[in-house]
Amino acid sequence: MPDYETLSKTIQSLTDGEDDTVALMATVACEVHHSDDRFDWTGFYRVTGPQMLKIGPYQGGHGCLQIPFSRGVCGAAARTGKVQLVADVDAFPGHIACASSIRSELVLPVTDADDTLIAVFDIDSDQPDAFSQGDAAALSAILRDVFARS
Ligand code: SME
Repeated sequence: MPDYETLSKTIQSLTDGEDDTVALMATVACEVHHSDDRFDWTGFYRVTGPQMLKIGPYQGGHGCLQIPFSRGVCGAAARTGKVQLVADVDAFPGHIACASSIRSELVLPVTDADDTLIAVFDIDSDQPDAFSQGDAAALSAILRDVFARS
């Protein structure tokens, strides 16, 4: 598991004073991705319209460009506003496989200072059951610190 306290401080330092969402997403995706070998795909899907997500800054192989809220693990996170911690993607109805090697996934809702959903943050792993509630809590706190700061 990464040293989330150090990761958080690094991201805070790198993004201090920045309010451009794309720049913030690119920095978070980069730093989180390289913090742990479990993370094989790390990136954002942005809310671009009613019930629609489109790919944002990411690290890893190509990801699908559009995901409606009705589909996939990302759509479930956007639709419900709840963390999706998926131990086995093959057991998740409607999982969208951007790579056949992916075994488990963590998707976190991303909200702004008004608590409006602006994106979801998706991390895929080639390892089964790779993610924990600790990962979800620590990464959710990092996302709040960056995107929900006023
Ligand atoms: N697995 C995601 C789709 C995004 S690719 O993994 C990058 C889903 O089911 O929503």
